[in-house]
Amino acid sequence: MNTAALQQTRLLRMAGIVKTFPGVKALRGVTVELSKGEILALLGENGAGKSTLIKILAGAFLPDAGDIFIDGKQLKLQGPADSRNAGIAVIHQEFSLVAGLNAIENIFLAKPIQTYSVIHLHQEYIRAKELLDKLGADFDPRTPCRLLSVAQMQLVEIAKALSEKASILVLDEPTAALTPRETSRLFILLDQLKKSGMGIIYVSHRLDEVFQIADRMQVLRDGADVVITNVNSATQSQIIKWMVGRDIEQSGVSKKEVPGNVVLRAKGLGNGVKVRDVSLEIREGEILGLTGLVGSGRTEVARILAGADIAEKGEITMEGRKLNLRSVGEAIGEGIFLLTEDRKNQGLFLRRPVHENFSIASLFRFACFGIINKAREIKAFLSHRDSMGIKVSSPFVRAGNLSGGNQQKVLLARWLERKGKVFLLDEPTRGVDVGAKEEIYILLRKLAANGNAILLISSELPEVLALSDRILVMHDGQIKGEIKDVGNATQELIMELAIQ
Ligand SMILES: Nc1ncnc2c1ncn2[C@@H]1O[C@H](COP(=O)(O)OP(=O)(O)OP(=O)(O)O)[C@@H](O)[C@H]1O
Ligand SMILES: [Mg+2]
Repeated sequence: MNTAALQQTRLLRMAGIVKTFPGVKALRGVTVELSKGEILALLGENGAGKSTLIKILAGAFLPDAGDIFIDGKQLKLQGPADSRNAGIAVIHQEFSLVAGLNAIENIFLAKPIQTYSVIHLHQEYIRAKELLDKLGADFDPRTPCRLLSVAQMQLVEIAKALSEKASILVLDEPTAALTPRETSRLFILLDQLKKSGMGIIYVSHRLDEVFQIADRMQVLRDGADVVITNVNSATQSQIIKWMVGRDIEQSGVSKKEVPGNVVLRAKGLGNGVKVRDVSLEIREGEILGLTGLVGSGRTEVARILAGADIAEKGEITMEGRKLNLRSVGEAIGEGIFLLTEDRKNQGLFLRRPVHENFSIASLFRFACFGIINKAREIKAFLSHRDSMGIKVSSPFVRAGNLSGGNQQKVLLARWLERKGKVFLLDEPTRGVDVGAKEEIYILLRKLAANGNAILLISSELPEVLALSDRILVMHDGQIKGEIKDVGNATQELIMELAIQ
């Protein structure tokens, strides 16, 4: 079928979708249409309602009002199984993998390859490997998911959705933790799927991606449709304005500070295969970028420095003093903080209110004789809420009820509030919208200007280039290159070092 013929078939129509949570009107009558063989980008600020819309399509939430039609036939979704059976595959923003199972078991959890009740394990292995290879995954499909990094889990999620042979594929920020290389592999695959007639909904905060792969885009603001248009008839700054309702100056951040003494030094760190002989130093007032492909060992290095994992080899010194970190608590005592990339499992207490999640690392600042001064705590939180634009109706809302990007902002606020010396930030702006990103960049530069040492791990190369004073590139558990003249460095240069 050619594209024109495919486009005529309306695959999906969600009409007048309304969803209210206590205190929040998440969707106020949103309509989405998707044709066969097209990619629709769904855009909007953090908290605009994108994931809520997708969860409704996935059967995870029931809408308060509105109808869903597939191929013109009305669909009544009572739960996720109905959605799956209707040919809808969804990759959620937060992972839904079962940690104890391996990649193969997760991929075929809902739809095993079987004849009658016999599951064909070998076929599942071959199929899983095939899918993961296509995505550029370099781990064994038999690896338990709890041992995988966020980006590797993302690849399993994608493989899982692809294995279901759906006619509609929905991806909620699939590339937030992927590097350019994994992203471009995914795009090749999405393009093939689209050409075979699949309809794809794609949520992302990376606008360059939208221009690269989407045919049409739809912008949501505060739960309502703002605009629906063809991708080639919009510019980046226009889209940003539709999303946030005002102009955002992409000013770039100034890097005038001269780094001071070495604060943290690591020598010959080793931890099995993931980290092999890593040495680095971070200075006062410096933002050191650490980048490399998925699985290159970036996160593992940060975890050792933060006391979360213990190195088998090597040593860490802080201001010349040798450290023997046995736990995260000990590292925190030394003023070393880790912002983890896996906010759901390692960072946030989803059932606790936002203000507690914010203040937990700096309770002593809000306490007097052991009693927490709640008013001070809330006031401090509100000031971060305003500067980063955290969308939350009150500080007492459970953290788990915030949108993904807003959860990330709360975690970041937690560490920004704390007085420390070394900040290890693993994908700090993952899932954060363009407007808030600028604000966070300014805050991080301020943090450095105040004499802190910052390690920035990021898959987004423009971010690494814009923020770092110096960049280290990892490959295969080792540091393969250092870029000192960041001003003249390019993404291509980083990629060359990353894949050598
Ligand atoms: N289970 C829930 N309970 C209460 N409120 C919720 C729940 N899920 C979402 N919300 C609220 O609904 C609004 C829309 O959230 P949603 O997750 O859809 O945003 P989003 O567009 O996906 O944002 P992001 O870009 O940060 O992922 C937010 O104000 C959020 O706090
Ligand atoms: Mg979301």
